[in-house]
Amino acid sequence: MGIQYDAKHQVFHLCNDHISYLLAVLRNGQLGQLYFGSRLPAAGEMPKGHDYTYLFEGVKRATSSYVYEGDFTFSLEHVRQEYPAYGTTDYRMPAFEIRQEDGSRITDFVYASHEIMDGKPKLQGLPATYAERADEAQTLAITLRDEKIDAELVLSYTIFRDFDAIARHACFQNNGSADLDITRAMSLSIDLPDADYEMLQLSGWWARERHLVTRPLAPGIQSVGSLRGHSGHVHNPLLILKRPHTDESQGEAIGFSLVYSGNFLAQAEVDTMDVTRVSMGIHPHAFDWCLARGERFQTPEAVMVYAAGGLNAMSQTFHALYRTRLARGTWRDKVRPILINNWEATYFDFDEDKLLKIARTAHDVGVELFVLDDGWFGARCSDTSGLGDWQPNTDRLPNGIKGLSEKIHALGMKFGLWVELEMANKDSDLYRAHPDWILHVDGRRESHGRNQYVLDFSRKEVVDCIHDSIAKVLRASSVDYIKWDMNRSITECGSKGFPAKRQGEIFHRYILGVYDLYERLRTEFPHILFESCASGGGRFDPGMLYYAPQAWTSDDTDAVERLAIQYGTSYAYPIVSMGSHVSAVPNHQVFRETSLKMRGDVAYFGTFGYELDLGTLSAEELAEVRGQIAFMKEHRELIQHGTFYRLKSPFAGNVTAWMVVSADKKEALVGCYKVLNSTCSPFQRLRLQGLDARADYAVKIDGRMDFGDYTGAELMRAGLVTSDFSAGEAPREEGKHCTDYWSRLYVLKAKG
Ligand code: DGJ
Repeated sequence: MGIQYDAKHQVFHLCNDHISYLLAVLRNGQLGQLYFGSRLPAAGEMPKGHDYTYLFEGVKRATSSYVYEGDFTFSLEHVRQEYPAYGTTDYRMPAFEIRQEDGSRITDFVYASHEIMDGKPKLQGLPATYAERADEAQTLAITLRDEKIDAELVLSYTIFRDFDAIARHACFQNNGSADLDITRAMSLSIDLPDADYEMLQLSGWWARERHLVTRPLAPGIQSVGSLRGHSGHVHNPLLILKRPHTDESQGEAIGFSLVYSGNFLAQAEVDTMDVTRVSMGIHPHAFDWCLARGERFQTPEAVMVYAAGGLNAMSQTFHALYRTRLARGTWRDKVRPILINNWEATYFDFDEDKLLKIARTAHDVGVELFVLDDGWFGARCSDTSGLGDWQPNTDRLPNGIKGLSEKIHALGMKFGLWVELEMANKDSDLYRAHPDWILHVDGRRESHGRNQYVLDFSRKEVVDCIHDSIAKVLRASSVDYIKWDMNRSITECGSKGFPAKRQGEIFHRYILGVYDLYERLRTEFPHILFESCASGGGRFDPGMLYYAPQAWTSDDTDAVERLAIQYGTSYAYPIVSMGSHVSAVPNHQVFRETSLKMRGDVAYFGTFGYELDLGTLSAEELAEVRGQIAFMKEHRELIQHGTFYRLKSPFAGNVTAWMVVSADKKEALVGCYKVLNSTCSPFQRLRLQGLDARADYAVKIDGRMDFGDYTGAELMRAGLVTSDFSAGEAPREEGKHCTDYWSRLYVLKAKG
């Protein structure tokens, strides 16, 4: 791994054992993009005199009629660039734009210097991947300068030794005497030399988050984004380009992921020369940052992953990087406690006795963590009141959170608490004391969502106040886990804390305030396991993973729906980050009745827990739950820290399958799910992945029933025979016909 600089040709080469990223200084001093893909020979590995400048096209011979004065051969119109500007011969969407005192938006940032350093410097106030040791990564920081406005632009690139990923961000510094208005500042821009790609995105809505959508790239712009103030349920800050023939196990794929939780844009623009310009960053709409003299503006980080071995390989890089070098803290490397959450069991209708009863039953069957959801504070008896008042409701909890947390601990369980710190109801003491603390614009309507308003987290005094009130509860009680919810998007985004010219900064300043509060609480309470949530999966993004190593994947807990949601989420996010629970039937979102077995078999592939009152189950069902918990305890190390493979897509058919393999390939677990049954259905085989071809595996259905011994080679090449799915044959482990909503787990253990 290393970063090389060819001073003669001004070419930078970032490479590790598998990938290369090449960029260079162009004739006009701006930066050009040369290559991103499988590793190319580094200096010393190439024939003498060879260099990579030939990879520029359209530079020696201008393919445009809009050329630089005095140089008929130079135009940026068709040049592949690194962080392009608009207005001087390039007509594609720029990476940035700065409005200046004279009204002009024309800039000219040219190479001034660069620095190559070991490790990876921190981003200030923003989430980012990190290196724990200096030899894990190298960082290149290139400084470009625009003399006329006396401003600097620093582009930073980190290459990791152990991950086929490059992390990037940009930073602007105003050294001049006039204010600058940054109206666009992407985290990354890259021009790829062709457009023979399909674009994959994760899209959906509440209760159907992150469904996989695939479309071929076409000339023009195709994009996803969010203008909601959070990354949102609609699109995820992830964009994947894959070759048309690429599938899960082979072919080229490039993943672009933004480490950010606010408004974002991710787009691919195909130009007339079939160059694909990918850009990603804060959404430029409603963004306008005033950079006064001496100030800096730093973009969020974007991560680019290149995989030559298919989409599973790309996802595995994201999983490993995000699990070990984005998530942090005490819980990063630990398996997660099996929890029970009271939300769907009680909604707002509970008191201490009811909660303790739920906790006791759960503890009896092996649950480790009890989570008290919404409704424990202020006058919060419905969603119309109380948000903002973070004092325990002593009518419901006579001894407050302190008393309840002690009782839960006395049972031998950990205690968790729900919060929604970014919001207030108008019917709250907080709002009555500070009506101007919500985001709003004087003289305009104040739209609400779920009767709640968004607190102005761009203002430090608001964040301080919320911090102090929740920290007081946490200091006084024994809280081991926090579910941090956020139940509405932002409307009428205006702040009383900033002047007119800074109102375009509020969306970004808001999320910086959220990050600040998270950081303060994490620092003071390092033992707490945080789980982020936003009406289910409305803020499931890499930014959140930096503060909270797990996230509530979706409010939709139906096993069939979860197949699609968890499968889609796995394109970028580690299995251990996905909050996944077994809930009651009929399911509260889709009213479907699935078996307890299938609900468990889906929820295992995540953090695992229960979202119902186990006291309502029959003795037989409780025994099954006890078995599920024992199974998860036995296998969670493998599930949560193993290598995950998607095998069969719920977006392609009736059967979904996935598997995890341990690092030493001695253990694996395959999950196989069939939504609707059919008679005499065709034979089925599942080609497994990631096993040791020479190892002998004992395969057991659900870890109990022998299914035979097979070599890894057979299981990966001939496949695991799963034909007895179909009705008409008695599945050998059950002695009864299978039916709709059917699942099976195969546990593989290498012998000897
Ligand atoms: C939305 C969350 O996604 C639910 O799990 C639950 O915590 C409710 N909010 C509580 O209001």
